[in-house]
Amino acid sequence: MATKKAPRTAERELLFGNLWDYDPAPETAQPHLDTRYELFIGGKFTKPRSKKYFPSLSPRDASHLADIAHANATDVDAAYQAAANAFPAWSKLPGAERGKYLYRIARLLQDRAREFAVAETLDGGKPIKEARDFDLPMAAAHFFYHAGWADKLAYATPGKNLAPLGVVGQIIPWNFPLLMLAWKLAPALACGNTVVLKPAETTSITCIKFATLLLEAGLPPGVVNFVTGPGDTGKAVVQHPLAKKIAFTGSTAVGKWIQHTLAGSSKRLTLELGGKAANIIFEDAPLDQAVEGIINAIFFNQGHVCCAGSRLLVQESIADQVLAKLKNRLRTLRVGDPLDKNTDIGAINSSQQLAKIQELCAAGVAEGAEMHQPDCSLPTNGYYFPPTIFSGVSLSHRIAREEIFGPVLSILTFRTPEEAIEKANNTCYGLSAGVWTDKGSRILRMATQLKAGVIWANTYNKFDPTSPFGGYKESGFGREGGRQGLLDYAECV
Ligand code: NAI
Ligand code: MG
Repeated sequence: MATKKAPRTAERELLFGNLWDYDPAPETAQPHLDTRYELFIGGKFTKPRSKKYFPSLSPRDASHLADIAHANATDVDAAYQAAANAFPAWSKLPGAERGKYLYRIARLLQDRAREFAVAETLDGGKPIKEARDFDLPMAAAHFFYHAGWADKLAYATPGKNLAPLGVVGQIIPWNFPLLMLAWKLAPALACGNTVVLKPAETTSITCIKFATLLLEAGLPPGVVNFVTGPGDTGKAVVQHPLAKKIAFTGSTAVGKWIQHTLAGSSKRLTLELGGKAANIIFEDAPLDQAVEGIINAIFFNQGHVCCAGSRLLVQESIADQVLAKLKNRLRTLRVGDPLDKNTDIGAINSSQQLAKIQELCAAGVAEGAEMHQPDCSLPTNGYYFPPTIFSGVSLSHRIAREEIFGPVLSILTFRTPEEAIEKANNTCYGLSAGVWTDKGSRILRMATQLKAGVIWANTYNKFDPTSPFGGYKESGFGREGGRQGLLDYAECV
Protein backbone atom coordinates (compact mmCIF):
# COMPACT_ATOMS: atom_id res chain seq x y z
CA MET A 1 0.00 0.00 0.00
CA ALA A 2 1.36 3.45 -0.92
CA THR A 3 1.86 5.68 2.09
CA LYS A 4 0.59 9.23 1.70
CA LYS A 5 2.95 12.11 2.23
CA ALA A 6 2.37 13.80 5.58
CA PRO A 7 0.63 17.18 5.11
CA ARG A 8 2.66 20.32 5.75
CA THR A 9 2.35 21.97 9.17
CA ALA A 10 -0.21 24.66 8.32
CA GLU A 11 -2.35 22.17 6.46
CA ARG A 12 -1.94 19.72 9.32
CA GLU A 13 -3.08 22.21 11.89
CA LEU A 14 -6.15 22.97 9.83
CA LEU A 15 -6.87 19.28 9.45
CA PHE A 16 -6.23 18.32 13.03
CA GLY A 17 -7.61 21.26 14.84
CA ASN A 18 -4.76 23.25 16.36
CA LEU A 19 -6.06 26.44 14.79
CA TRP A 20 -9.65 25.67 15.55
CA ASP A 21 -10.70 27.08 18.84
CA TYR A 22 -14.35 26.47 19.52
CA ASP A 23 -16.43 29.19 21.10
CA PRO A 24 -18.33 28.00 24.14
CA ALA A 25 -21.71 26.53 23.16
CA PRO A 26 -23.49 26.11 26.49
CA GLU A 27 -26.77 24.24 26.64
CA THR A 28 -29.43 26.68 27.80
CA ALA A 29 -32.45 24.47 28.55
CA GLN A 30 -33.50 24.53 32.20
CA PRO A 31 -33.08 21.34 34.27
CA HIS A 32 -35.72 22.50 36.80
CA LEU A 33 -33.93 21.18 39.86
CA ASP A 34 -35.28 21.24 43.40
CA THR A 35 -33.04 21.89 46.36
CA ARG A 36 -34.23 18.75 48.14
CA TYR A 37 -35.48 15.40 46.86
CA GLU A 38 -37.65 13.07 48.95
CA LEU A 39 -38.38 9.37 48.56
CA PHE A 40 -41.18 8.26 46.24
CA ILE A 41 -43.32 5.68 48.02
CA GLY A 42 -46.92 4.67 47.30
CA GLY A 43 -47.32 7.44 44.72
CA LYS A 44 -46.26 10.18 47.17
CA PHE A 45 -43.09 12.12 47.85
CA THR A 46 -42.23 10.98 51.37
CA LYS A 47 -39.75 12.35 53.90
CA PRO A 48 -37.28 9.70 55.04
CA ARG A 49 -37.97 8.13 58.45
CA SER A 50 -34.21 8.36 58.94
CA LYS A 51 -34.59 12.18 58.77
CA LYS A 52 -31.22 12.12 56.99
CA TYR A 53 -30.21 13.68 53.67
CA PHE A 54 -26.98 13.59 51.73
CA PRO A 55 -25.65 16.03 49.12
CA SER A 56 -25.60 15.40 45.37
CA LEU A 57 -22.73 17.26 43.77
CA SER A 58 -22.20 18.21 40.19
CA PRO A 59 -18.93 16.66 39.00
CA ARG A 60 -18.83 19.48 36.45
CA ASP A 61 -17.62 21.97 39.08
CA ALA A 62 -18.02 20.12 42.41
CA SER A 63 -20.92 22.42 43.29
CA HIS A 64 -23.78 21.33 45.55
CA LEU A 65 -26.90 20.60 43.48
CA ALA A 66 -29.45 19.24 45.92
CA ASP A 67 -29.99 17.20 49.07
CA ILE A 68 -31.21 13.65 48.62
CA ALA A 69 -33.17 11.60 51.16
CA HIS A 70 -31.22 8.77 52.77
CA ALA A 71 -33.64 5.85 53.07
CA ASN A 72 -33.10 3.47 55.98
CA ALA A 73 -34.47 -0.08 56.40
CA THR A 74 -37.84 1.28 57.63
CA ASP A 75 -38.19 3.42 54.52
CA VAL A 76 -37.26 0.50 52.31
CA ASP A 77 -39.85 -1.60 54.11
CA ALA A 78 -42.52 1.05 53.47
CA ALA A 79 -41.60 0.98 49.77
CA TYR A 80 -41.90 -2.82 49.62
CA GLN A 81 -45.26 -2.72 51.44
CA ALA A 82 -46.54 -0.14 48.92
CA ALA A 83 -45.34 -2.28 46.03
CA ALA A 84 -46.93 -5.41 47.52
CA ASN A 85 -50.25 -3.57 47.98
CA ALA A 86 -50.19 -2.40 44.37
CA PHE A 87 -49.28 -5.80 42.93
CA PRO A 88 -52.67 -7.58 42.83
CA ALA A 89 -54.46 -4.87 40.85
CA TRP A 90 -51.49 -4.07 38.58
CA SER A 91 -50.76 -7.69 37.71
CA LYS A 92 -54.42 -8.33 36.88
CA LEU A 93 -54.74 -5.35 34.54
CA PRO A 94 -55.10 -6.47 30.92
CA GLY A 95 -51.70 -6.26 29.19
CA ALA A 96 -53.04 -3.65 26.76
CA GLU A 97 -53.81 -1.36 29.72
CA ARG A 98 -50.33 -1.77 31.19
CA GLY A 99 -48.98 -1.08 27.70
CA LYS A 100 -50.86 2.23 27.60
CA TYR A 101 -49.10 3.38 30.78
CA LEU A 102 -45.73 2.46 29.30
CA TYR A 103 -46.52 4.36 26.07
CA ARG A 104 -47.59 7.35 28.12
CA ILE A 105 -44.36 7.27 30.12
CA ALA A 106 -42.31 7.07 26.93
CA ARG A 107 -44.15 10.01 25.36
CA LEU A 108 -43.88 12.13 28.51
CA LEU A 109 -40.16 11.41 28.66
CA GLN A 110 -39.82 12.55 25.06
CA ASP A 111 -41.77 15.72 25.89
CA ARG A 112 -39.38 16.58 28.70
CA ALA A 113 -36.23 15.17 27.09
CA ARG A 114 -34.26 18.44 27.06
CA GLU A 115 -34.94 19.13 30.73
CA PHE A 116 -33.98 15.60 31.73
CA ALA A 117 -30.86 15.63 29.55
CA VAL A 118 -29.54 18.77 31.23
CA ALA A 119 -30.34 17.39 34.70
CA GLU A 120 -28.54 14.15 33.82
CA THR A 121 -25.47 16.01 32.60
CA LEU A 122 -25.35 18.34 35.61
CA ASP A 123 -25.72 15.52 38.12
CA GLY A 124 -23.57 12.86 36.45
CA GLY A 125 -21.02 14.75 34.33
CA LYS A 126 -21.64 13.18 30.93
CA PRO A 127 -21.43 15.42 27.83
CA ILE A 128 -24.77 17.04 27.02
CA LYS A 129 -24.60 15.75 23.46
CA GLU A 130 -24.56 12.19 24.80
CA ALA A 131 -27.33 12.75 27.38
CA ARG A 132 -29.40 14.48 24.69
CA ASP A 133 -28.71 12.17 21.74
CA PHE A 134 -28.19 8.83 23.45
CA ASP A 135 -29.43 8.46 27.03
CA LEU A 136 -32.79 10.17 26.62
CA PRO A 137 -33.86 8.72 23.26
CA MET A 138 -32.71 5.23 24.33
CA ALA A 139 -34.56 5.46 27.64
CA ALA A 140 -37.76 6.40 25.80
CA ALA A 141 -37.14 3.61 23.27
CA HIS A 142 -37.04 1.03 26.07
CA PHE A 143 -40.46 2.12 27.31
CA PHE A 144 -41.90 2.11 23.77
CA TYR A 145 -40.47 -1.33 23.05
CA HIS A 146 -41.79 -2.90 26.25
CA ALA A 147 -45.15 -1.16 25.83
CA GLY A 148 -45.44 -3.30 22.72
CA TRP A 149 -44.74 -6.48 24.68
CA ALA A 150 -47.25 -5.85 27.48
CA ASP A 151 -50.23 -7.31 25.59
CA LYS A 152 -48.22 -9.90 23.66
CA LEU A 153 -46.59 -11.85 26.47
CA ALA A 154 -48.25 -15.05 25.29
CA TYR A 155 -46.15 -14.82 22.11
CA ALA A 156 -42.89 -14.65 24.08
CA THR A 157 -43.23 -18.29 25.14
CA PRO A 158 -45.52 -20.07 22.67
CA GLY A 159 -47.59 -22.79 24.32
CA LYS A 160 -47.03 -21.44 27.81
CA ASN A 161 -48.36 -18.48 29.75
CA LEU A 162 -46.18 -15.93 31.47
CA ALA A 163 -46.96 -14.68 34.97
CA PRO A 164 -45.25 -11.80 36.80
CA LEU A 165 -42.94 -12.60 39.71
CA GLY A 166 -44.34 -10.09 42.24
CA VAL A 167 -42.38 -7.25 43.81
CA VAL A 168 -38.90 -6.83 42.35
CA GLY A 169 -36.03 -4.90 43.92
CA GLN A 170 -33.75 -3.09 41.48
CA ILE A 171 -30.42 -1.35 42.10
CA ILE A 172 -28.75 0.72 39.42
CA PRO A 173 -25.38 2.46 38.95
CA TRP A 174 -24.34 6.01 38.15
CA ASN A 175 -23.01 5.74 34.62
CA PHE A 176 -26.37 5.82 32.75
CA PRO A 177 -28.83 6.74 35.53
CA LEU A 178 -31.98 7.29 33.51
CA LEU A 179 -31.21 4.67 30.89
CA MET A 180 -30.53 1.98 33.51
CA LEU A 181 -33.78 2.98 35.20
CA ALA A 182 -35.57 2.43 31.87
CA TRP A 183 -33.80 -0.92 31.28
CA LYS A 184 -35.00 -2.07 34.68
CA LEU A 185 -38.49 -0.57 34.96
CA ALA A 186 -39.87 -1.15 31.47
CA PRO A 187 -39.64 -4.99 31.28
CA ALA A 188 -40.66 -5.38 34.95
CA LEU A 189 -43.81 -3.30 34.44
CA ALA A 190 -44.66 -4.84 31.06
CA CYS A 191 -44.77 -8.26 32.74
CA GLY A 192 -47.00 -7.03 35.57
CA ASN A 193 -44.49 -6.77 38.42
CA THR A 194 -44.31 -3.89 40.87
CA VAL A 195 -40.99 -2.30 41.75
CA VAL A 196 -38.74 -0.87 44.45
CA LEU A 197 -35.80 0.82 42.73
CA LYS A 198 -32.69 2.41 44.21
CA PRO A 199 -30.58 4.75 42.04
CA ALA A 200 -26.88 5.30 42.72
CA GLU A 201 -26.08 7.86 45.42
CA THR A 202 -24.16 10.23 43.10
CA THR A 203 -26.93 10.31 40.49
CA SER A 204 -30.36 10.20 42.14
CA ILE A 205 -31.84 13.41 40.75
CA THR A 206 -33.21 12.23 37.42
CA CYS A 207 -34.73 9.19 39.12
CA ILE A 208 -36.77 11.29 41.55
CA LYS A 209 -37.63 13.73 38.74
CA PHE A 210 -38.86 10.70 36.83
CA ALA A 211 -41.39 10.14 39.63
CA THR A 212 -43.12 13.39 38.60
CA LEU A 213 -43.52 11.92 35.17
CA LEU A 214 -45.05 8.73 36.59
CA LEU A 215 -47.57 10.88 38.46
CA GLU A 216 -48.36 12.73 35.24
CA ALA A 217 -48.88 9.39 33.50
CA GLY A 218 -51.37 8.45 36.22
CA LEU A 219 -49.52 5.26 37.11
CA PRO A 220 -51.36 3.64 40.06
CA PRO A 221 -49.69 4.42 43.43
CA GLY A 222 -47.15 1.85 44.61
CA VAL A 223 -46.48 0.26 41.22
CA VAL A 224 -43.10 2.03 41.19
CA ASN A 225 -41.31 3.20 44.35
CA PHE A 226 -37.96 4.96 44.53
CA VAL A 227 -35.69 4.78 47.56
CA THR A 228 -32.50 6.83 47.51
CA GLY A 229 -29.34 6.29 49.52
CA PRO A 230 -25.92 4.65 49.47
CA GLY A 231 -24.85 1.01 49.95
CA ASP A 232 -26.74 0.45 53.22
CA THR A 233 -30.02 1.39 51.49
CA GLY A 234 -29.08 -1.05 48.71
CA LYS A 235 -28.48 -3.78 51.30
CA ALA A 236 -31.94 -3.25 52.71
CA VAL A 237 -33.41 -3.53 49.20
CA VAL A 238 -31.58 -6.83 48.65
CA GLN A 239 -32.47 -8.33 52.03
CA HIS A 240 -36.16 -7.45 52.17
CA PRO A 241 -38.31 -10.59 52.49
CA LEU A 242 -40.98 -9.32 50.07
CA ALA A 243 -38.54 -9.16 47.13
CA LYS A 244 -39.20 -11.95 44.64
CA LYS A 245 -36.29 -10.92 42.46
CA ILE A 246 -33.28 -8.64 42.67
CA ALA A 247 -31.89 -7.03 39.54
CA PHE A 248 -28.52 -5.36 40.05
CA THR A 249 -26.18 -3.41 37.80
CA GLY A 250 -22.91 -2.24 39.32
CA SER A 251 -19.54 -3.43 40.53
CA THR A 252 -18.53 -7.09 40.58
CA ALA A 253 -17.65 -6.83 44.30
CA VAL A 254 -21.18 -5.79 45.28
CA GLY A 255 -22.66 -8.31 42.81
CA LYS A 256 -20.75 -11.09 44.57
CA TRP A 257 -22.03 -9.95 47.96
CA ILE A 258 -25.61 -9.97 46.68
CA GLN A 259 -25.21 -13.46 45.23
CA HIS A 260 -23.83 -14.74 48.57
CA THR A 261 -26.67 -13.05 50.45
CA LEU A 262 -29.40 -14.51 48.25
CA ALA A 263 -27.93 -18.02 48.11
CA GLY A 264 -30.40 -20.51 49.52
CA SER A 265 -33.37 -18.16 49.15
CA SER A 266 -35.99 -18.49 46.42
CA LYS A 267 -35.34 -14.94 45.20
CA ARG A 268 -34.41 -14.69 41.57
CA LEU A 269 -31.31 -12.72 40.68
CA THR A 270 -29.84 -11.05 37.61
CA LEU A 271 -26.45 -9.35 37.77
CA GLU A 272 -24.93 -7.00 35.22
CA LEU A 273 -21.42 -6.33 36.49
CA GLY A 274 -18.08 -5.11 35.26
CA GLY A 275 -16.14 -5.75 32.09
CA LYS A 276 -12.73 -5.51 30.45
CA ALA A 277 -13.70 -5.91 26.83
CA ALA A 278 -11.26 -6.72 24.06
CA ASN A 279 -11.60 -4.61 20.94
CA ILE A 280 -9.73 -6.63 18.30
CA ILE A 281 -8.32 -4.93 15.20
CA PHE A 282 -7.05 -7.15 12.36
CA GLU A 283 -4.64 -5.86 9.74
CA ASP A 284 -7.30 -6.03 7.01
CA ALA A 285 -9.69 -3.74 8.92
CA PRO A 286 -10.63 -0.34 7.44
CA LEU A 287 -8.23 1.53 9.71
CA ASP A 288 -9.75 4.99 9.80
CA GLN A 289 -13.14 3.55 10.66
CA ALA A 290 -11.53 1.26 13.21
CA VAL A 291 -9.79 4.24 14.85
CA GLU A 292 -13.15 6.01 15.20
CA GLY A 293 -14.54 2.78 16.62
CA ILE A 294 -11.69 2.51 19.13
CA ILE A 295 -12.24 6.13 20.23
CA ASN A 296 -15.97 5.60 20.63
CA ALA A 297 -15.46 2.26 22.41
CA ILE A 298 -13.30 3.73 25.18
CA PHE A 299 -14.14 7.43 25.42
CA PHE A 300 -17.95 7.28 25.20
CA ASN A 301 -19.32 8.52 28.56
CA GLN A 302 -15.73 9.11 29.84
CA GLY A 303 -15.23 5.35 29.69
CA HIS A 304 -17.76 4.87 32.50
CA VAL A 305 -19.23 2.01 30.51
CA CYS A 306 -19.32 -1.61 31.65
CA CYS A 307 -18.95 -2.81 28.04
CA ALA A 308 -16.25 -0.23 27.12
CA GLY A 309 -13.59 -1.48 24.72
CA SER A 310 -10.88 -0.90 27.30
CA ARG A 311 -8.36 -3.49 26.02
CA LEU A 312 -7.32 -2.83 22.45
CA LEU A 313 -5.85 -5.89 20.76
CA VAL A 314 -4.08 -4.80 17.56
CA GLN A 315 -2.47 -7.11 15.05
CA GLU A 316 1.28 -6.55 15.35
CA SER A 317 1.79 -5.59 11.69
CA ILE A 318 -0.36 -2.46 12.06
CA ALA A 319 0.28 -1.64 15.73
CA ASP A 320 2.56 1.37 15.09
CA GLN A 321 0.22 2.80 12.48
CA VAL A 322 -2.82 2.44 14.73
CA LEU A 323 -1.01 4.01 17.69
CA ALA A 324 0.04 6.98 15.55
CA LYS A 325 -3.49 7.49 14.28
CA LEU A 326 -4.91 7.20 17.77
CA LYS A 327 -2.48 9.74 19.22
CA ASN A 328 -3.44 12.13 16.45
CA ARG A 329 -7.14 11.63 17.07
CA LEU A 330 -6.68 12.07 20.82
CA ARG A 331 -5.55 15.66 20.26
CA THR A 332 -8.86 16.57 18.64
CA LEU A 333 -11.06 15.32 21.47
CA ARG A 334 -12.51 18.20 23.45
CA VAL A 335 -12.41 17.61 27.18
CA GLY A 336 -14.22 19.92 29.55
CA ASP A 337 -17.55 21.41 30.56
CA PRO A 338 -20.12 18.67 29.98
CA LEU A 339 -22.83 21.31 29.46
CA ASP A 340 -21.01 22.57 26.36
CA LYS A 341 -22.52 21.08 23.22
CA ASN A 342 -19.05 20.65 21.67
CA THR A 343 -17.62 18.60 24.54
CA ASP A 344 -16.59 15.04 23.72
CA ILE A 345 -15.35 14.01 27.16
CA GLY A 346 -17.08 15.48 30.19
CA ALA A 347 -16.48 15.16 33.91
CA ILE A 348 -15.58 12.05 35.87
CA ASN A 349 -18.62 11.07 37.93
CA SER A 350 -17.14 11.53 41.40
CA SER A 351 -13.93 12.34 43.24
CA GLN A 352 -13.74 8.67 44.33
CA GLN A 353 -13.92 7.46 40.73
CA LEU A 354 -11.31 10.03 39.71
CA ALA A 355 -8.99 8.76 42.46
CA LYS A 356 -9.47 5.18 41.25
CA ILE A 357 -8.57 6.15 37.66
CA GLN A 358 -5.50 8.08 38.84
CA GLU A 359 -4.37 5.16 40.97
CA LEU A 360 -4.67 2.64 38.14
CA CYS A 361 -2.87 4.91 35.68
CA ALA A 362 -0.02 5.33 38.17
CA ALA A 363 0.12 1.53 38.43
CA GLY A 364 0.30 1.31 34.61
CA VAL A 365 3.33 3.62 34.55
CA ALA A 366 4.97 1.85 37.51
CA GLU A 367 4.53 -1.54 35.84
CA GLY A 368 6.30 -0.31 32.71
CA ALA A 369 3.61 0.59 30.17
CA GLU A 370 4.02 3.80 28.20
CA MET A 371 1.37 6.45 28.85
CA HIS A 372 0.18 8.87 26.14
CA GLN A 373 -1.97 11.88 26.93
CA PRO A 374 -2.74 14.85 24.68
CA ASP A 375 -1.75 18.35 25.61
CA CYS A 376 -5.09 19.63 26.88
CA SER A 377 -6.09 21.98 29.64
CA LEU A 378 -8.66 20.70 32.09
CA PRO A 379 -11.13 22.85 34.05
CA THR A 380 -9.76 23.70 37.49
CA ASN A 381 -12.95 22.96 39.42
CA GLY A 382 -14.73 19.62 39.19
CA TYR A 383 -13.40 16.17 38.35
CA TYR A 384 -11.62 15.71 35.04
CA PHE A 385 -9.18 13.28 33.49
CA PRO A 386 -7.59 13.55 30.03
CA PRO A 387 -8.12 10.82 27.43
CA THR A 388 -5.27 8.40 27.99
CA ILE A 389 -3.76 5.49 26.10
CA PHE A 390 -1.17 3.03 27.27
CA SER A 391 1.03 1.19 24.79
CA GLY A 392 3.39 -1.66 25.60
CA VAL A 393 0.84 -3.24 27.94
CA SER A 394 1.13 -6.91 28.82
CA LEU A 395 -1.60 -9.19 30.13
CA SER A 396 -0.20 -9.25 33.64
CA HIS A 397 -0.43 -5.47 34.08
CA ARG A 398 -3.18 -4.25 36.36
CA ILE A 399 -4.37 -1.87 33.62
CA ALA A 400 -4.98 -4.93 31.42
CA ARG A 401 -6.84 -6.89 34.09
CA GLU A 402 -8.82 -4.47 36.26
CA GLU A 403 -11.81 -2.43 35.21
CA ILE A 404 -10.65 1.21 35.21
CA PHE A 405 -14.07 2.66 34.31
CA GLY A 406 -12.49 5.81 32.95
CA PRO A 407 -11.10 7.29 29.70
CA VAL A 408 -8.09 4.98 29.67
CA LEU A 409 -7.21 2.51 26.92
CA SER A 410 -4.67 -0.31 27.24
CA ILE A 411 -3.09 -1.48 23.98
CA LEU A 412 -1.84 -5.04 23.53
CA THR A 413 -0.76 -6.75 20.33
CA PHE A 414 -1.28 -10.17 18.76
CA ARG A 415 -0.03 -12.04 15.69
CA THR A 416 -2.61 -14.72 14.88
CA PRO A 417 -6.38 -15.01 15.37
CA GLU A 418 -5.72 -17.80 17.90
CA GLU A 419 -3.53 -15.50 19.97
CA ALA A 420 -6.19 -12.77 19.79
CA ILE A 421 -8.85 -15.16 21.11
CA GLU A 422 -6.53 -16.45 23.83
CA LYS A 423 -5.73 -12.93 25.01
CA ALA A 424 -9.29 -11.65 24.68
CA ASN A 425 -10.63 -14.48 26.82
CA ASN A 426 -7.84 -14.19 29.38
CA THR A 427 -9.91 -12.16 31.84
CA CYS A 428 -12.37 -12.85 34.65
CA TYR A 429 -14.96 -10.79 32.75
CA GLY A 430 -17.07 -11.63 29.70
CA LEU A 431 -19.43 -8.81 28.86
CA SER A 432 -18.58 -7.55 25.39
CA ALA A 433 -16.03 -7.56 22.58
CA GLY A 434 -15.36 -5.90 19.23
CA VAL A 435 -13.93 -7.39 16.04
CA TRP A 436 -12.68 -5.28 13.15
CA THR A 437 -11.87 -7.10 9.92
CA ASP A 438 -12.82 -7.14 6.27
CA LYS A 439 -13.70 -10.84 6.37
CA GLY A 440 -17.20 -11.95 7.37
CA SER A 441 -16.04 -15.52 7.94
CA ARG A 442 -13.42 -14.30 10.43
CA ILE A 443 -16.05 -12.28 12.30
CA LEU A 444 -18.21 -15.37 12.68
CA ARG A 445 -15.29 -17.52 13.75
CA MET A 446 -14.15 -15.00 16.34
CA ALA A 447 -17.69 -14.53 17.61
CA THR A 448 -18.12 -18.23 18.30
CA GLN A 449 -14.87 -18.37 20.28
CA LEU A 450 -15.01 -15.14 22.26
CA LYS A 451 -16.55 -15.56 25.71
CA ALA A 452 -18.59 -12.37 25.72
CA GLY A 453 -22.31 -11.69 25.90
CA VAL A 454 -22.29 -8.98 23.23
CA ILE A 455 -19.95 -8.91 20.24
CA TRP A 456 -19.87 -5.99 17.84
CA ALA A 457 -18.37 -6.37 14.38
CA ASN A 458 -16.89 -3.32 12.62
CA THR A 459 -18.76 -1.10 15.06
CA TYR A 460 -18.95 -0.63 18.82
CA ASN A 461 -21.34 0.51 21.56
CA LYS A 462 -24.47 0.01 19.48
CA PHE A 463 -27.57 -0.55 21.60
CA ASP A 464 -31.15 -1.38 20.84
CA PRO A 465 -34.03 -2.36 23.13
CA THR A 466 -34.73 -5.40 20.96
CA SER A 467 -31.23 -6.78 21.49
CA PRO A 468 -30.45 -8.68 24.69
CA PHE A 469 -27.47 -7.42 26.70
CA GLY A 470 -25.60 -9.24 29.47
CA GLY A 471 -22.49 -11.18 30.37
CA TYR A 472 -20.61 -14.33 31.16
CA LYS A 473 -18.27 -15.15 34.05
CA GLU A 474 -17.74 -12.31 36.54
CA SER A 475 -19.65 -9.92 34.29
CA GLY A 476 -22.82 -11.49 35.65
CA PHE A 477 -25.82 -13.36 34.31
CA GLY A 478 -29.30 -12.63 33.01
CA ARG A 479 -30.14 -10.49 30.01
CA GLU A 480 -31.70 -7.07 29.59
CA GLY A 481 -33.58 -6.14 26.43
CA GLY A 482 -35.26 -8.27 23.82
CA ARG A 483 -37.38 -11.34 24.49
CA GLN A 484 -34.64 -12.79 26.70
CA GLY A 485 -34.69 -9.76 28.98
CA LEU A 486 -38.44 -9.98 29.32
CA LEU A 487 -38.25 -13.60 30.43
CA ASP A 488 -36.07 -12.58 33.38
CA TYR A 489 -39.12 -10.74 34.81
CA ALA A 490 -41.70 -13.50 34.47
CA GLU A 491 -42.24 -17.17 35.09
CA CYS A 492 -43.84 -19.75 32.86
CA VAL A 493 -47.10 -21.11 34.24
P1 NAI B 1 -21.23 0.00 43.33
O1 NAI B 1 -21.40 -1.39 42.86
O2 NAI B 1 -20.91 0.24 44.76
O3 NAI B 1 -22.56 0.83 43.02
C1 NAI B 1 -23.62 0.39 42.19
C2 NAI B 1 -24.94 0.47 42.96
O4 NAI B 1 -24.93 -0.48 44.03
C3 NAI B 1 -25.21 1.82 43.62
O5 NAI B 1 -26.58 2.10 43.53
C4 NAI B 1 -24.80 1.58 45.07
O6 NAI B 1 -25.44 2.44 45.98
C5 NAI B 1 -25.28 0.15 45.25
N1 NAI B 1 -24.65 -0.60 46.34
C6 NAI B 1 -23.43 -0.42 46.90
N2 NAI B 1 -23.21 -1.35 47.86
C7 NAI B 1 -24.32 -2.13 47.91
C8 NAI B 1 -24.71 -3.27 48.67
N3 NAI B 1 -23.91 -3.81 49.58
N4 NAI B 1 -25.91 -3.83 48.43
C9 NAI B 1 -26.73 -3.32 47.50
N5 NAI B 1 -26.43 -2.25 46.76
C10 NAI B 1 -25.24 -1.66 46.94
O7 NAI B 1 -20.15 0.69 42.41
P2 NAI B 1 -19.22 1.97 42.75
O8 NAI B 1 -18.57 1.80 44.07
O9 NAI B 1 -20.02 3.19 42.53
O10 NAI B 1 -18.10 1.86 41.61
C11 NAI B 1 -16.95 1.08 41.81
C12 NAI B 1 -16.55 0.39 40.53
O11 NAI B 1 -17.56 -0.50 40.12
C13 NAI B 1 -16.36 1.31 39.35
O12 NAI B 1 -15.10 1.87 39.34
C14 NAI B 1 -16.56 0.36 38.20
O13 NAI B 1 -15.38 -0.34 37.94
C15 NAI B 1 -17.62 -0.60 38.71
N6 NAI B 1 -18.97 -0.24 38.27
C16 NAI B 1 -19.51 -0.96 37.24
C17 NAI B 1 -20.75 -0.61 36.74
C18 NAI B 1 -21.36 -1.36 35.62
O14 NAI B 1 -22.18 -0.80 34.91
N7 NAI B 1 -21.05 -2.60 35.42
C19 NAI B 1 -21.49 0.52 37.26
C20 NAI B 1 -20.87 1.16 38.40
C21 NAI B 1 -19.64 0.79 38.84
MG1 MG C 1 -24.25 13.93 41.37
